[in-house]
Amino acid sequence: MVENTGSIDALLQEERSFPPPADFAARANMSDPEIYARAAADPEGFWAGLAGELDWFQQWDTVLEWDAPFAKWFVGGKLNVSYNCIDRHVKNGRRNKAAIVWEGEPGDWQVYTYGDLLREVCRFANGLKSLGVGKGDRVTIYLPMTPELPIAMLACARIGAPHSVVFGGFSAESLRDRINDSQSKLLITADGGYRRGGIVPLKQNADDSLEGSPSIEKAVVLRRTGSADDKMVAGRDIWWHDLVQGQPQTCEPEPMDSEDMLFLLYTSGTTGKPKGIVHSSGGYLLGVQATAKWVFDLKEDDIYWCTADIGWVTGHSYIVYGPLANGATTVMYEGSPDYPDRDRFWDVVAKYGVTILYTAPTAIRTFMRWGEDYPRRHDLSTLRLMGTVGEPINPEAWVWYWQHIGGGNCPVVDTWWQTETGSIMISPLPGLTTLKPGSATKPFPGIEAEILDEAGQPVGPGGGGYLIVKRPWPSMLRNIYGDPERFKETYWSRYDGIYFTADGARRDDDGYFWLLGRVDDVINVSGHRIGTMEVESALVDNLKVAEAACIGKDHEVKGQAIVAFVTLKDQVAMSADVVTELKAHVAGKIGAMARPDDIYFAAELPKTRSGKIMRRLLRDVAEGRALGDTTTLADPAVVDSLKAQYGDEE
Ligand code: PRX
Repeated sequence: MVENTGSIDALLQEERSFPPPADFAARANMSDPEIYARAAADPEGFWAGLAGELDWFQQWDTVLEWDAPFAKWFVGGKLNVSYNCIDRHVKNGRRNKAAIVWEGEPGDWQVYTYGDLLREVCRFANGLKSLGVGKGDRVTIYLPMTPELPIAMLACARIGAPHSVVFGGFSAESLRDRINDSQSKLLITADGGYRRGGIVPLKQNADDSLEGSPSIEKAVVLRRTGSADDKMVAGRDIWWHDLVQGQPQTCEPEPMDSEDMLFLLYTSGTTGKPKGIVHSSGGYLLGVQATAKWVFDLKEDDIYWCTADIGWVTGHSYIVYGPLANGATTVMYEGSPDYPDRDRFWDVVAKYGVTILYTAPTAIRTFMRWGEDYPRRHDLSTLRLMGTVGEPINPEAWVWYWQHIGGGNCPVVDTWWQTETGSIMISPLPGLTTLKPGSATKPFPGIEAEILDEAGQPVGPGGGGYLIVKRPWPSMLRNIYGDPERFKETYWSRYDGIYFTADGARRDDDGYFWLLGRVDDVINVSGHRIGTMEVESALVDNLKVAEAACIGKDHEVKGQAIVAFVTLKDQVAMSADVVTELKAHVAGKIGAMARPDDIYFAAELPKTRSGKIMRRLLRDVAEGRALGDTTTLADPAVVDSLKAQYGDEE
């Protein structure tokens, strides 16, 4: 059930509203209010019109084939994503325009023009071919935020090899699981990456993971930090710079079917292992190109910066594919926002003259806590539009961002979407939409989103329910890699043939959407999606642990924090050392972002008579609330003792 919390009632009473500034609206890429009605009247015609803005080698025959839940868009069409992101711009006068402006954490920087990008992508694509990688072969990429990461992705796209990018913060074990699920042939990694003044040991992790990843034949290693020069494995590892040495500077783009897989990207769900979300070539590219153009209002002279990591979908869609499809200049920064000081982001904005900034609520709340002095040190007057993504934004953080970063005159677009949706689904169009702090406002034209109750009935104004999407859209996920049954079950079975987002939402009297967070067992920690089951499996993997249950607890900065309730094996005593050990164990198994904030020891976990753990009660304990309904508990004494132990901490 979607709970009606007090905070959302307060949200719906949010009365501040911000119409588009007149000068912004006058120049906006989309300022026609009729666009919503036109798209709703003929969604397929609407998308087909936008698809005409891509370069196709062969025109499609059919816009949509929908055999629920399997969609095919632009059937019969052929295109190449790297051609659309690079070659056509080089041909159309942007050869010398900056495509990627990159800054490393130590302060090194580099600019790749579209001409440079074409050359480097072709050289690397030829290198991949020389290693025997061809159309349809999966390639896993485990790189830091260096320009070689988008170059590797675009080179894969050029030769038709789907990529699977694994975020550099994931552990060796997480990397291994993802490689094995995708049966990748090649791994592209680096010796290390810089983060908060230290080095992330990517090559070490890769070596550990490759011991259990037999599908990998070769590993390409980028030299970034010089920290693994003695660790190259003969016959398997090859340096990036050796691979591209002497490679031709041109490489024909492979004509791909619109429906061919461009990439897979792993994300967490309620059950089991992370799932490989499959994205297409044509529909995906159309979705990211169109949303980047209208939501971020990309213009020829913009300097656009999305602060996400390319290891997550936000970086795929809005650092790489969306901006480059539009021929824009996209900024990439390698490191952390507080290195060497807490004004690093503002230093980057001022140094490159960033005009559009896209970041996460958790970052904004962190900046709020650090105070206004840091942004005030820099000239941020180039900014004209700002966005947020990844989790609900509280109105205070929205208004702070608008005021202290945007100087009170940049629209803020709160964009709701998911790894599965590929591109932005609910968001203002900044030249058209009156903004309300805390609301993602309205579905993008052509997207038919609604809120349903348990019985599948649309809820009225003010009511809470499940956010769903009624019709297929071009950038939607096509499948879960290798597991169509799970695909059907996870997304399409709750309401037959309707996409279930697993998010709760409400709509206000103006029809605006207010997102309430996940309704499944997914925890959103600083915008990172983590399954409770993954953390629980990591905990019970430790020999001291008999049973574990995890919940997400409200957290002022991170949105949610992980709290684990753990039952230890009989002979093991509770101690602070065990807490430290278990936290480190989870971080080692999954990655640092999954490290629990708190571990509570429980003699027993609260369960229903049928043996299901009652997470709702654990959340009540962790957040110091009065316990909700306990009548279905098998043994009510279990929560009483937990409450006595931990309930007064808040
Ligand atoms: O709960 C929603 C939240 O992030 C989830 C998707 O996570 P992921 O697939 O990692 O993609 C994140 C970036 C697109 C959603 O189910 N979420 C994302 N954006 C918002 C949001 N919640 C509220 N408001 C948003 N703007």
